Amino acid sequence: MPRLNLPPGPKGLLLLGHLPQVNRDPIGFFSQCARDYGDIICWRFGPFPAYLVNHPNLVEEVMVIQYRNFVKSSVYRRGLRVLGNGLLTSEGKFWQRQRRLEQPAFHQERITGYAQLMVAYTNRLLEHWQDGSVRDIHQEMMSLTLEIVAKTLLDVDIANDVTGIQTALEAVMKFNDHLSNQYLIPPWLPTPSNLRYQRATELLDAIVYPIIDQRKTSGKDTGDLLSMLLQARDETDGAQMTNQQLRDEVMTLMLAGHETTANALTWLWFLVSGHPEVEAKLQEELKTVLNGRSPTIADLHQLRYTEQVVMESMRLYPPVWGMSRLALQDSVLGGYDIKAGTTVFVSQWISHRDPRFFAQPEVFNPDRWADNLLKRLPAFAYFPFGGGPRLCIGKAFAMMEAILLVAAIAQQFRLTLQPDFPVELQPSLTLRPKHGMKMLLTRR
Ligand code: HEM
Repeated sequence: MPRLNLPPGPKGLLLLGHLPQVNRDPIGFFSQCARDYGDIICWRFGPFPAYLVNHPNLVEEVMVIQYRNFVKSSVYRRGLRVLGNGLLTSEGKFWQRQRRLEQPAFHQERITGYAQLMVAYTNRLLEHWQDGSVRDIHQEMMSLTLEIVAKTLLDVDIANDVTGIQTALEAVMKFNDHLSNQYLIPPWLPTPSNLRYQRATELLDAIVYPIIDQRKTSGKDTGDLLSMLLQARDETDGAQMTNQQLRDEVMTLMLAGHETTANALTWLWFLVSGHPEVEAKLQEELKTVLNGRSPTIADLHQLRYTEQVVMESMRLYPPVWGMSRLALQDSVLGGYDIKAGTTVFVSQWISHRDPRFFAQPEVFNPDRWADNLLKRLPAFAYFPFGGGPRLCIGKAFAMMEAILLVAAIAQQFRLTLQPDFPVELQPSLTLRPKHGMKMLLTRR
């Protein structure tokens, strides 16, 4: 048999491979690999071979060019099993059909209708904020984005369930703090983390199923995504979606549609708080464009600097800091052999800090986006929303939401990080701040 031509990489332990390092500090381990070995690296996940690819062309190779040779890895099947077979986790023809079905709810003209609601919910939250008080901004952003996604896509007021959902999500994230849980522990083993995961799923089910049941009983067509799902009929046999399928899609949209945006906003407030020059420029724009009134959809194209602040925050702190795929067949990637069954990791955290594409990559500088930088970059140098056929369906929704919420909040309050507050990364499925984000609110 000819010898395989494998990419370079660090030497791991005999059985464990690089499991201890990647469990302890995945971002640190991947960053070190990129520094030491470059664009394509072979490492070992326990006994299983895994690659990390860092060059935009190679990321494009996996996400677009060789798209058909890759499916989502066991991070999605095990780590995200609470989502069942929803849009984020499904594959093949089933995924394609569901994507086609749900896409209209995310068309530009449709989502512009959500803008007013997004601002109204934000203003409702701000009414409870008091000058001089300290709040955990991460929690505040999580509740706000959750309420928004539930109202816009499912037409439900979820305020009473926010705490339950947050507790359940905590357990899901904790499970995913360790990559070994995603890859090596079968879901049926009664380990403490599997049991916690199971309880979290039951808690979320108890919230999601009644939402579906109530809508079915009411028979109302409110024109939202839930109505679209309920009305959908299979092209071949005319069958409706089962309750389980509906549950999986609703759960996916509710969780994928708020956690990421909340993290994006939390890191943004953290960065702005430490950069008074950015804050001043943001205020200047808000004063010129809004002059004290609430932002609307019509203001979006004028809130250019606000958009740049959002983009730059997601460059440095990408809410999805890494993604992974499983190779279906033997092939070649970046000139190296890749065997079927190999997991390939790509990391927004690493790519977004690559000095070949971003000058002074560690510096928070929203102005770098001013001159159409995005157009000049290779497609996968900056990809907070992923790319290719599996591009985030909520990209336009999330960008609009982030810009409107930042404008509405920054206009009324200054957010200052509490002195000595320990800001630490929790790189789980998403990039969360480990201890939340305690900030002082000052009314403007
Ligand atoms: C700043 C906010 C957001 C970020 C950074 C983000 C990021 C991502 C990324 C990176 C993926 C691709 C995952 C992969 O290929 O492995 C993805 C997929 C997805 N996102 Fe988002 N997302 C955001 C907001 C949203 C919102 C608001 C929604 C829904 C309302 C949403 C729903 C989804 C869904 C359903 C998928 C799976 C799409 C598919 O595979 O067809 N996301 N997101």
